[in-house]
Amino acid sequence: MTNALIIRLAMVDHASALASLGRATFKQAFAHLFQDHDETLERYLEQTFTLNKIAKSLLKPNNKYWLALIDEKLIGYAKLKLRSSHPLCRGRRIGQLQKIYVDSTEIGGGVGRALVKIIEDEARRQLCDRLWLSVHEGNAQARGFYEHIGWRDIGQDTFAIGELQLSYRIMVRDLES
Ligand SMILES: CC(C)(COP(=O)(O)OP(=O)(O)OC[C@H]1O[C@@H](n2cnc3c(N)ncnc32)[C@H](O)[C@@H]1OP(=O)(O)O)[C@@H](O)C(=O)NCCC(=O)NCCS
Repeated sequence: MTNALIIRLAMVDHASALASLGRATFKQAFAHLFQDHDETLERYLEQTFTLNKIAKSLLKPNNKYWLALIDEKLIGYAKLKLRSSHPLCRGRRIGQLQKIYVDSTEIGGGVGRALVKIIEDEARRQLCDRLWLSVHEGNAQARGFYEHIGWRDIGQDTFAIGELQLSYRIMVRDLES
């Protein structure tokens, strides 16, 4: 891992940078799922990564975002959503690792592991006993990463974006206190 990696908690004034990075990394990672559905992808990006939406999200007390920077350049981010359960993972002390993206130029450099560690540490501090996430079924790279760092697959779910029905795996991590 490079020594210049810095991970910092995001504040509302990072909304614009996060909206741009979120949009770019989503496209990098998932544009192939929208083959022949370009308009659906564009609509999703327009609706999801607006400055207003990201700023509102940053201000919600249950949400925490971290930014990963290398040599001052923003190259990744992750989001923890507290008190967010799933039908396969219910309870009062459940959190969600809702987003994690590393720029394609930095994949495999240890940034993802560092972001997940910060999320898990913060979830423990907030007295979560379990975290869950959803990962696209075809995203073998991310699924392999999560398994490698101790998450386990507990089942399947679907999510619609426009006319597309996407199939996801639900994975969990039990947090020992
Ligand atoms: C998934 C993602 C966050 C992982 O981050 P990363 O920075 O590439 O991962 P790291 O370099 O920190 O890898 C950490 C460890 O997992 C291992 N690993 C990574 N991918 C793996 C895989 N597919 N199978 C097995 N192990 C894997 C690494 O070898 C490393 O092991 P080590 O620390 O024991 O040497 C990143 O690849 C990414 O952003 N992908 C595109 C967007 C995406 O798919 N996001 C997830 C949406 S659910």
